[in-house]
Order: sequence, then C-alpha cells, then structure tokens
Amino acid sequence: MRFWPHRFPLALLVCSVVMLGRVEPLGSQTPKDNPKPSAQSHKYVRPTDPSLYVGTEVCKTCHEDIYNTFATNPHFVTTIDSKLDAQKGPEWHGCEACHGPGKEHVEGGGDRTKIFTFKDVSPAESSARCLDCHQSSHEQSNYGRSAHLQSGVACIDCHSPHHAKDTQSLLRESSPKLCYTCHLDVRAQFVRPFHHRVNEGLMQCNDCHNPHGGFERHQLRTVAGQDQVCYKCHADKQGPFVYQHEAKIEGCEVCHTPHGSTNQRMLVQNQVNLLCISCHSLSTGALATPSFHNQANEYQACTLCHTAVHGSNSSNVFFTP
Ligand code: HEC
Ligand code: HEC
Ligand code: HEC
Ligand code: HEC
Ligand code: HEC
Ligand code: HEC
Ligand code: HEC
Ligand code: HEC
Ligand code: HEC
Ligand code: HEC
Repeated sequence: MRFWPHRFPLALLVCSVVMLGRVEPLGSQTPKDNPKPSAQSHKYVRPTDPSLYVGTEVCKTCHEDIYNTFATNPHFVTTIDSKLDAQKGPEWHGCEACHGPGKEHVEGGGDRTKIFTFKDVSPAESSARCLDCHQSSHEQSNYGRSAHLQSGVACIDCHSPHHAKDTQSLLRESSPKLCYTCHLDVRAQFVRPFHHRVNEGLMQCNDCHNPHGGFERHQLRTVAGQDQVCYKCHADKQGPFVYQHEAKIEGCEVCHTPHGSTNQRMLVQNQVNLLCISCHSLSTGALATPSFHNQANEYQACTLCHTAVHGSNSSNVFFTP
C-alpha cells in the first residue's frame, strides 16, 4: 500500500487503537512472555506548537544542496500544500517532519545541538521517526518485530533520504549488494554452481523475504493462504495432487537449499538416494523402502522410477505425474 500524507490522522488513530487493544492481554502475562521492546515503545511525540517551526523554505537558505536533491525525492510531497491534509500542522511538513522543529537551530545560526540529526540515537529511536509515517504501510508495519530492528539495524542502515545510491527506493546501495554488506555467508551461497539467479538480476532477495519483517521465520514472505513463498513461482509443485508427497509438509527446505548449492537441483544432499533414505530408511517402519529395493536397484537413482517426486495425480508411488 502506498502512503499519502492525508492518511496520517487515520493511520495514527488505527495505530493507537491497536496499541490500546494490546494493553490488557499484556498486563495479564508474566514478564518473560512480554515481547521484546519494539519500535512502538520509542514512538516519536511531535511537538505541535507551530511557533517552533520555520518551514522548508527557511532551511533552504542555508542548506541549498540538500534542498535541491530533496526536491527530486519522494518526500518532497510533504512540502506540497495541495497534497497535505489541511488540518495537518507544520510538524508533518518537509525537513522538519524528520529533523523536528528547527527554530532554535536557525536562531542559533545553525547550532547543531538544537536539531535532531539521527546520529547518536538508538536504532529504535531513529526508526520511530520514519515509522511514524510508514507504520501504516503493510510492507513496513511489522518492523518492530523484525530480526533487523531486534538486532540493531535501523531504517537508515538501508535507506538514505539524502544520499541514496539507488533512488528507486532511496536505498544506500542497490540490492543484493546492500544485503551482502552484512550477510557475507549468504553472498557465498549465491555464488555456488546451482543457485537462484539473484546476482544475475532475475530475482531479488525481496521476492522471498521482507527486509521489514513479518510473521514468518527468517522474515519470509508467504503467498495467498499463508502457503510457502516458493509456490509464488513454482505453482506446479503445489498441486493439488491426488497423491501428495507428505515430505513437503515440512517445507521445500527439507530437500532443497533455497539460496544455492553445490548439488544439482539445489538438493541438500549430493546423491538423491541419500536424501530419500534419510527418511525412507532401508529397514522397517512406516516410511520403509520395500525390501526388493535393496538388491539390484541399489545403485539406481530413486527418481528414475519415482519421477514425480513432488506429487502425482495418477500414481500413489509417484511413478507418473
Ligand atoms: C525522510 C526524513 C528526512 C527528511 C524529510 C529530511 N532529512 Fe535531512 N537527514 C535525514 C537523515 C536520516 C539524515 C542522516 C544522514 C543520512 O542518513 O543520510 C539527514 C541528514 C541531514 C543533514 C546532515 C548532512 C548530510 O548531508 O547528511 C542535513 C544538513 C540535513 N539532513 C538537512 C535537511 C534539510 C535541509 C531537509 C529539507 C530540505 C531535510 N534534511 C529533510 C532525514 C531527513
Ligand atoms: C542560518 C543558516 C541555517 C538555517 C536556516 C538552517 N541551518 Fe541547518 N545548519 C546550519 C549550519 C551552519 C550547520 C552546521 C554545518 C556544519 O558544521 O557542517 C547546520 C547543520 C545542520 C544539520 C546537521 C547537524 C550535524 O551535526 O550533522 C542538520 C540536520 C540541519 N542543519 C538541519 C536543518 C534544518 C532541518 C533546517 C530548517 C528547519 C536548517 N538546518 C536550517 C545552518 C542553518
Ligand atoms: C512526514 C511523514 C514521513 C516521514 C517522517 C518519513 N517518510 Fe518516507 N515517505 C513519506 C511519503 C509521503 C512518501 C511518498 C510516498 C509515495 O510516493 O507513495 C515517502 C516515501 C518513502 C520511501 C519510498 C520511496 C519510493 O521510491 O517509493 C522510502 C524508502 C521512505 N519514504 C523512507 C523513509 C525513511 C527511511 C524515513 C526516516 C528517515 C522516512 N521515510 C520518514 C512520508 C514520510
Ligand atoms: C535491511 C534493509 C532495510 C531496512 C532495515 C529497511 N528497509 Fe525499507 N526497503 C528495503 C528494500 C531492499 C526495499 C526495496 C523494495 C523493492 O524495491 O522491492 C525497501 C523499500 C522501502 C519502501 C518503498 C516502498 C515499499 O513499501 O515497498 C519504503 C517506504 C521503505 N522501504 C521504508 C522503510 C522504513 C520506514 C524502514 C524502517 C522502519 C525501512 N524501510 C527499513 C530495505 C530495508
Ligand atoms: C528463493 C527464495 C529466497 C531468496 C531469493 C532469498 N532467500 Fe534467504 N532464505 C530463504 C529461505 C526459504 C530461508 C530459510 C532457510 C531454512 O529454513 O533453512 C532463507 C534464509 C535466509 C537467512 C537466514 C539463514 C541464513 O542462511 O543466514 C538470511 C540471512 C537470508 N535468507 C538472506 C537472504 C538474502 C540477503 C538474500 C538475497 C541476496 C536472500 N536471502 C534471498 C529463501 C530465499
Ligand atoms: C546493516 C547490516 C544489514 C543489512 C544491510 C542487511 N541485514 Fe539482514 N540482518 C542483519 C542482522 C544483524 C540480522 C540478525 C542476525 C542474523 O540473523 O543474521 C539480520 C537478519 C536478516 C534476516 C533474518 C534471518 C533469520 O534467521 O531470521 C533476513 C531474512 C535478512 N536479514 C535479510 C536481509 C536482506 C534481504 C537484506 C537486504 C535488503 C538485508 N538483510 C540487509 C543485518 C543486516
Ligand atoms: C520469484 C520466483 C521464484 C521463487 C519465489 C522461488 N523460485 Fe525457485 N526458481 C525460480 C526460477 C526462475 C528458477 C529457474 C531458473 C534459474 O535457473 O534461475 C528456479 C529454480 C529452482 C530450482 C531448480 C534449480 C535447478 O538447478 O534446476 C529449485 C529446486 C527451486 N527453484 C526451488 C525453490 C524453492 C525451494 C523456493 C522457495 C524457498 C523457490 N524455488 C522460490 C524462481 C523462483
Ligand atoms: C522429498 C524431497 C523434495 C521436496 C520436499 C521438494 N523437492 Fe523439489 N525436487 C526434489 C528432487 C529429488 C528433485 C530432482 C528431480 C529430478 O532430478 O528428476 C527436485 C526438483 C525440483 C525442481 C527442478 C526440477 C523441476 O521439476 O522443475 C524444482 C523447481 C523444485 N524441485 C521445487 C520444489 C519446491 C518449490 C518444493 C516445495 C514445494 C520442493 N521442490 C520440495 C525433491 C524434493
Ligand atoms: C523429509 C522426509 C522425506 C524425504 C526426504 C523423502 N520422503 Fe518420501 N515420504 C515421506 C513421507 C512422510 C511420506 C508419506 C508416508 C505415508 O503416507 O505413510 C512419503 C511417501 C513416499 C512415497 C509413497 C509411498 C507411500 O507409502 O505413500 C514414495 C514412493 C516416496 N515417499 C518416495 C520418496 C523418494 C523417491 C524420495 C527421494 C527423492 C523421498 N521419498 C524423500 C517423507 C520423505
Ligand atoms: C527400478 C525402479 C525403482 C527404483 C530405482 C526405486 N523404486 Fe521404490 N518402488 C518401486 C516399485 C516397483 C515400488 C512398488 C510400487 C507399488 O507397490 O505399486 C516401489 C515402492 C516404493 C515405496 C512405497 C512403499 C510402500 O509401502 O508403498 C517407497 C517408499 C519407495 N519405493 C522408495 C524408494 C527409494 C527411497 C528409492 C531409492 C533408494 C527407490 N524407491 C527406488 C520401484 C523403484
């Protein structure tokens, strides 16, 4: 959902209702059940006295360079009266919407101690400034519970309002380069011989993850019905099949590494048979492979006969699709 200034009051109202609604159940919990501190607990309270604000045009007089790039920035809409709710005070406008009231800074001839600079504050406090406007967006609304904020990564570690290299989404660096600056292990996975083509620009980290957080483990996205993200592109593996391979219940990752692998088809094992018998042990039990498999077939790939390994509409042992 795109965000527009005239939605500010509604967004804030919804936000506070949600927060009020959560007070009761939390109170009845033991302290150890309480969620980790979220960005909401650092909510920025905007001073509303109009006389504390000077307006973007005044900032321009001393910060012309910044102003000029700002004029080409999506945040510039916050300076355009016709796009703003008539009741919205100056605390929501232009430079001061992020940097706070600027009168004292200006009267001090540019006193740096009298203006909010995003330096020397906690990631939660810094991000709260941004979330004040962006919380209402479905994409960013879960930032408070994200692994990123929990680990001290702020909005401005990825985004730069004034010095973005990738102006598309005001990113400090375009993705995946941005992500690799911190996730070196993931970078190594994507250069393996069999990989999803993220580095080649065919898909993005964002296709599978929401860097702003969500409800799934590893900040994974889901498709309709909360199904695994993989079905967004591999719908043929979902079915519905008359005969499902129940291995999939545990997720595609029981057999595939999602980023990249040295094994063909990005399998977690370098031999298909080892993968299959990791569940279908050759001895006895519910998942056991019939004993006649042990002899002559030992060196044949299981998928030679069981070809439709993701599920089938015609064969309960997955011989045919
Ligand atoms: C969307 C929030 C936002 C808005 C709006 C904004 N700034 Fe900033 N500003 C920042 C952040 C964040 C930084 C910290 C540096 C960074 O991360 O790039 C910053 C840094 C600065 C700096 C420090 C020097 C520098 O180049 O980093 C100045 C000066 C500044 N802003 C002035 C302004 C002026 C003037 C305006 C209006 C024309 C403005 N800002 C609008 C967020 C904002
Ligand atoms: C009278 C001139 C003047 C005006 C008007 C002015 N500033 Fe500044 N501002 C300065 C000076 C001088 C500095 C210090 C620059 C330096 O030391 O590099 C500064 C620094 C800043 C910084 C960076 C502080 C830091 O430590 O990095 C920010 C942010 C900033 N101004 C924002 C604003 C905003 C927002 C406005 C409008 C509300 C504004 N300024 C209006 C003169 C001005
Ligand atoms: C006063 C409200 C307000 C604040 C505070 C604010 N933003 Fe925004 N932001 C907006 C609006 C309005 C847009 C334009 C939305 C649109 O084009 O649909 C926007 C757009 C964006 C975009 C999208 C750019 C694009 O190309 O789609 C990013 C990224 C962003 N803001 C990041 C930030 C960050 C980071 C901060 C904190 C440093 C911040 N914003 C603070 C109102 C705000
Ligand atoms: C770990 C890096 C990272 C962090 C931290 C992060 N973002 Fe983003 N953000 C991205 C990337 C990557 C995109 C680009 C999405 C795309 O182009 O598909 C993006 C896109 C956006 C957009 C563009 C429109 C949209 O909704 O898709 C907005 C607005 C935005 N971020 C705001 C924020 C705010 C506010 C915060 C802090 C609460 C934040 N981001 C924290 C990486 C990050
Ligand atoms: C095809 C979908 C997909 C793409 C594209 C993807 N991921 Fe993942 N990622 C996953 C899945 C699924 C997991 C969970 C793996 C598991 O459960 O073992 C995961 C796990 C992770 C983890 C946590 C575990 C770890 O390996 O550290 C990080 C961090 C991560 N991904 C970052 C990234 C980054 C950065 C990119 C882009 C360069 C990216 N991912 C692209 C699907 C994807
Ligand atoms: C400033 C450093 C930084 C940047 C940039 C960054 N991350 Fe992270 N990311 C972290 C940290 C720290 C964690 C939490 C510790 C961990 O799980 O590795 C994390 C966690 C994650 C997780 C969750 C891992 C889990 O196991 O739950 C995913 C997914 C992820 N990042 C994806 C991305 C993507 C995609 C990008 C690029 C858009 C990105 N990150 C950019 C630092 C960063
Ligand atoms: C955004 C679309 C998209 C998503 C989401 C996606 N994939 Fe893929 N996947 C592809 C494309 C495109 C290819 C084949 C082309 C290529 O080589 O990149 C592929 C190839 C594969 C392959 C075969 C690789 C080979 O060597 O033949 C496997 C296995 C795979 N994906 C598993 C997964 C799993 C598991 C997930 C979920 C974690 C997933 N995919 C999510 C687009 C996607
Ligand atoms: C029981 C293990 C297992 C599970 C679970 C599994 N796969 Fe596979 N997958 C395989 C094997 C084995 C192959 C290689 C088949 C071959 O070489 O004939 C394969 C091949 C693929 C291929 C490439 C060839 C093709 O048929 O298009 C894709 C894409 C794929 N799987 C996606 C997925 C997705 C998405 C999921 C989750 C819904 C998933 N797999 C779950 C074992 C599994
Ligand atoms: C993660 C564990 C797991 C892996 C790995 C796995 N399977 Fe399965 N498989 C299952 C489960 C669970 C069932 C359902 C068993 C049942 O219904 O009793 C099943 C059922 C089957 C069946 C149908 C037989 C029946 O009793 O319903 C065949 C055939 C089969 N698997 C073949 C394979 C092959 C071939 C591989 C390797 C590509 C493989 N499996 C990998 C867990 C796994
Ligand atoms: C030469 C072909 C062939 C190969 C190779 C093969 N199988 Fe089978 N598999 C069969 C046949 C035939 C059946 C019995 C089908 C039936 O009952 O209708 C079967 C049945 C099964 C069943 C279902 C047992 C049940 O109780 O219903 C499982 C599980 C199984 N195979 C696993 C494997 C595994 C694991 C491998 C690799 C180690 C493998 N198969 C290799 C032909 C093969």
